[in-house]
Amino acid sequence: MSDQIHIVEMGPRDGLQNEKTPVSVEARIAFVEALVAAGLNTVEVGAFVSPKAIPQMASSDQVLRGVSQIKDRVKGAEFHVLVPNEKGYDAARAAGAQVVSVFAAASEGFSRANINCSIAESIERFKPVLARAKADGVKVRGYVSCVLGCPFDGEIKPKAVADLAMTLWDLGCYEISLGDTIGVGTPLKAKEMLRAVGAELPVANLAMHFHDTYGQALANLYAGMEEGVRVIDSAAGGLGGCPYAPGATGNVATEDVVYMLEGMGVKTGVDMEKLLAATNEVAGLLGRPPVSRVASALNAKRKRLSGA
Ligand code: HMG
Ligand code: MG
Repeated sequence: MSDQIHIVEMGPRDGLQNEKTPVSVEARIAFVEALVAAGLNTVEVGAFVSPKAIPQMASSDQVLRGVSQIKDRVKGAEFHVLVPNEKGYDAARAAGAQVVSVFAAASEGFSRANINCSIAESIERFKPVLARAKADGVKVRGYVSCVLGCPFDGEIKPKAVADLAMTLWDLGCYEISLGDTIGVGTPLKAKEMLRAVGAELPVANLAMHFHDTYGQALANLYAGMEEGVRVIDSAAGGLGGCPYAPGATGNVATEDVVYMLEGMGVKTGVDMEKLLAATNEVAGLLGRPPVSRVASALNAKRKRLSGA
């Protein structure tokens, strides 16, 4: 359990994609800067999807261009963007993307709602993206959504998740991120699902992407760590959710994950004070306090100590 954990920070993409208050390109760039300064070197910074579908992710090209100079300064900094098809890949590459993420769903209902096609059709859309990425030397991450339940189709069989994860892996994705999109999972179900996927492909290449809608994400992450998974997706402040997943709230908060891991003696390399500052800055822009328990507790402690 004490092995290093790799955190993939989702705040600027999964976090902001579901926020009603528009956030400027400059503020999105500043958010990424602040996250990297806090020690979060892998950040998903945007999405090359239809701006009609997700207006919050419009101008992701400007964000990606804006953060590119960070890579010259910070060794190991890596910026990811979502691409649903070749059109997205073209735009992402034109803006300098070196890592892109394709996203499929384990349920037909969510696939249709999210990307307007069946699971099989989505794979056909990804094939040319993966082929071109390979030729271009671009890394591709693959998401599987609704791994522990779907807002439209209900229960999802672990085998359906494992089969789709295997398909993405065979296409050439270097890592498969397993999304509990609507945060309905519980620890034993998370374990069962991860075992099914881990039986098909290396556990070292799996990531846990758990939304915290029902407050189960930390418990599910712990269960997944017991299964050997060492990559965790989280969003500063617990921001966001998916606009096409009714009722879904944000990813597990990065502060909560870092607090749990450091408390377990697992080094994250994240500076909590700097992360809290980044979270508070964005919360200020959005006009509400962060939902993260740790951020709330640290902010309250600060207030007490300052006598405010
Ligand atoms: P479609 O309607 O099937 O595509 O949408 P289309 O090819 O028929 O094109 C329709 C329009 O979209 C056209 O524009 C295209 O040019 C445009 P129009 O002629 O109407 O003006 N278009 C694009 N524009 C910009 N970038 C593109 C692009 N492709 C087509 N790449 C599409 C298919 C996927 C584009 C659409 O359904 C879409 O953008 N959906 C948004 C999906 C999304 O971003 N969802 C949230 C992220 S996924 C998530 O949050 C889950 C995750 O976090 C894991 C988890 O939690 O489980 C990853
Ligand atoms: Mg998500």
